[in-house]
Formats: sequence, C-alpha cells, structure tokens
Amino acid sequence: MRDLEDTVIGVVGASGAVGRHAAHALRSLSHARLILGARRTDPLRALADELGGLVEVAPVDVDSPESLEAFCHRCDVVLNCAGPSYRILDRVAVAALAAGADYVDVTGDTPVYDRLAGSPAAEGHRVLLSAGVLPGLSALLPRWFARRHGLREMTVHAGGLERCTGAAAADLLLSLPGADAAEAVFGHPLSAWRDGAVVEGALRARDGTRAPHFPGVVFVQPFLTGEARRLADALGLHRLDWYNVHPGERTRAVLTAAVGRADHGSETVGRLRRAADLDLVGERPYYRLVYSLVDGAGTPHTLLARFTDSYRMTGRVGAATTMAVARGATPTGVHHAADVLEPEPAVTALFEGDEDAVLHLWQGAATADPEEGAL
Ligand SMILES: NC(=O)c1ccc[n+]([C@@H]2O[C@H](COP(=O)([O-])OP(=O)(O)OC[C@H]3O[C@@H](n4cnc5c(N)ncnc54)[C@H](OP(=O)(O)O)[C@@H]3O)[C@@H](O)[C@H]2O)c1
Repeated sequence: MRDLEDTVIGVVGASGAVGRHAAHALRSLSHARLILGARRTDPLRALADELGGLVEVAPVDVDSPESLEAFCHRCDVVLNCAGPSYRILDRVAVAALAAGADYVDVTGDTPVYDRLAGSPAAEGHRVLLSAGVLPGLSALLPRWFARRHGLREMTVHAGGLERCTGAAAADLLLSLPGADAAEAVFGHPLSAWRDGAVVEGALRARDGTRAPHFPGVVFVQPFLTGEARRLADALGLHRLDWYNVHPGERTRAVLTAAVGRADHGSETVGRLRRAADLDLVGERPYYRLVYSLVDGAGTPHTLLARFTDSYRMTGRVGAATTMAVARGATPTGVHHAADVLEPEPAVTALFEGDEDAVLHLWQGAATADPEEGAL
C-alpha cells in the first residue's frame, strides 16, 4: 500500500466541468500531490490557485502520444476526466499503464473495458472504469440496495435539467437510436432485460410524457447501457428497464430531431449545448436517479438520489475511486468501479455531509405522476 503523502495523482481534463470538481474532491480527500493536465494551461493555473497544497500544472494533449507519455510518467495514478469518451477510448489508459501508473476513468465503460481486459499491460495494475454518475453511481446504488434487501426487478429513470458540455453532448448523442459509432457504442437503445436476456425493441421512446419523481412533462428514452446489462446479469434480475429522462423543452426538440440520424457532428453538439442553456433560463438545475425496485421478497421500494450537478457528482465519484486505487483498496486488473467498490462506505461517503446530494429510500412503488414540488 502506498503512502498517500508521496502519491502523485494526475488529472487529465482537470479544467473541465467534471475535472475541476474531481480536483477539488481529491484535494479535500488527501494531501497527495496533484498534477493538473489539459491542453490550455491558463484555466489549470487558476484552478491550481483555488486548490492550494501540492499541485502542479502540466500541458497534455491526449491526441499526442509523446505528450501523454511525458504526463503519465510523472504519475502514480492517472484519473481521466477528458472527453468525449467515445473519441478518446483507451488512449489515456494505455499511456498510463505503459508508464507504470494505475488508471481511473469517469466514463470508459464497455468500449474501453473490451480494449483493456486481458491486456498484459494491465497485469498487476489497478484499472477502474465507469467511475462517474452514469456509468458509476447508477450501478453502485442498486448494488447497495441489493446487499441490504436482495433485488429481483428494477426500472430506472435517470436525468435532469442542467447544462450540457461539448464532451458530454457528444457522448449523449451516441445513446440515441441510429447513432453510428460502432466501435464506441456503450449501450442499446430501446432494449430491455427479461429473464437473463436482452430483448431488442422491448421499449418505446416517448415525448411529452411523465416520469416518476420528475416535475413536468419529459422525453423518456429507453437505453440499456452496457452497465445496466452487466448489473442485471450479475444480480440475476428478472426484469430491468432503463430510461434516460430529458425534461428540458428545447433539449427534447433537439434530441427527438436527432433520433435515427447516424451522424451527430459538431453542429448537433452545438445545438444541444445551446438548447440546454436556454432550458435553464429561470430554472434551478437538478439531476435525479429514480429506481423502482422489487426486493428479494417481492416488496416494492423506491430509491431516489438527487443532486443539483451531475458533473460535480461525477468528479466526486471519480475522486473517491481514485483514492481507493491510490490506497491499494481495490483489486488489480481491469474493473468497473461499481463492481469492486464496497457499496456501503462508498454510498455513505458520497451522500453524508453533502448538502447538494440527497438519498431517499422508502417502501412502496415510485408514483408515475407525483405532485410537483413534492420533493
Ligand atoms: N460518468 C458520468 O456520469 C459523466 C458525467 C458527466 C460527464 N462525463 C464524461 O466526462 C467527460 C468530460 O466531460 P466534461 O463535461 O468535463 O467536459 P468539458 O467540460 O468539455 O471538459 C473537457 C476537459 O478535457 C480537456 N480536453 C479536451 N480535449 C483534450 C485533449 N485533446 N487533450 C487533453 N485534454 C483535453 C479540456 O481542456 P482543454 O480544452 O484545455 O484541453 C477540459 O479540461 C466526457 O467524456 C463526458 O461524457 C461523464
């Protein structure tokens, strides 16, 4: 186990919406030396001033193998917060492992796992992928519930009203039916899990509908992520339905127009970002993960996680996962964070003492048509 005081943690994409929160969370969790990386150094210097302590700034470009190599050689653990994930894939991970560093990715998921699993470069190292909100916390919460009560079935509604960065927009567009990036696909639109198998086309996207514990009308888009499928398989679920929820009116218009179109270039990304900004005018941002669960005894429960900023929560999950790796508290090899983090302490650390993050669990089904403001 490393002495954390001597540990060097490099954050790639540290100046981004996720990265800056990850850096703040890392600073509050440890005295480790931080190296903040991205292409532009001015925003990194401003962040370093905010953080204080042992912190350096280093330019790095994930499109340049030399630059990545130089960055990773200085690190014991590399946390990747740069995106879009589907474009970067395993490039940062490969450079980190070649430099002898452990690796954490706030996204990654199946496309990166498939590239790294079984690779000799990963042997003896800790590689944890999917260490954000979705993927990440989205699987950790049902695992936490299942340890307490057992779990047979679940329906999930995940989403919110918040800004959309360029990197997140590009990744989000990949979840729409018809998206064309075969090598980076991280889930299956319209599919669901039934008794041990994926059933394609089982669910329908619906616009102008209600979703449990979301205010107003929304666009619900079924998307069986690789994570959801793994979870259903690992927990032996009879049924799993997963919906991404988009409440913003302008965002809904951009997304419904993009469904079925294969090529989501920078123009669609720009439209999605502007739409999210306009949807937020005069509104308070929020993000929710709403789980309708049936426990091992057949009793329905509702589990609801809410926070105001999924980018901030992603940074916190990424930082907590990085600290677990730095402490040597996770197994070696390539894993998804939710599969190896201990659910009870991890969930407690993320929700206790944070005014912005609230977790509710109650017996009874989630109501499809809740009163506005009931939460
Ligand atoms: N798991 C989850 O729940 C979750 C939630 C939110 C976001 N995400 C994912 O997290 C990733 C980052 O999202 P974000 O919203 O933080 O994006 P963002 O605000 O656009 O930030 C991107 C960061 O990466 C840096 N960057 C971009 N291109 C780079 C390159 N070629 N080389 C080095 N650094 C580069 C940027 O700085 P420079 O431009 O100066 O290089 C910036 O620091 C995305 O893949 C997104 O999908 C995951």
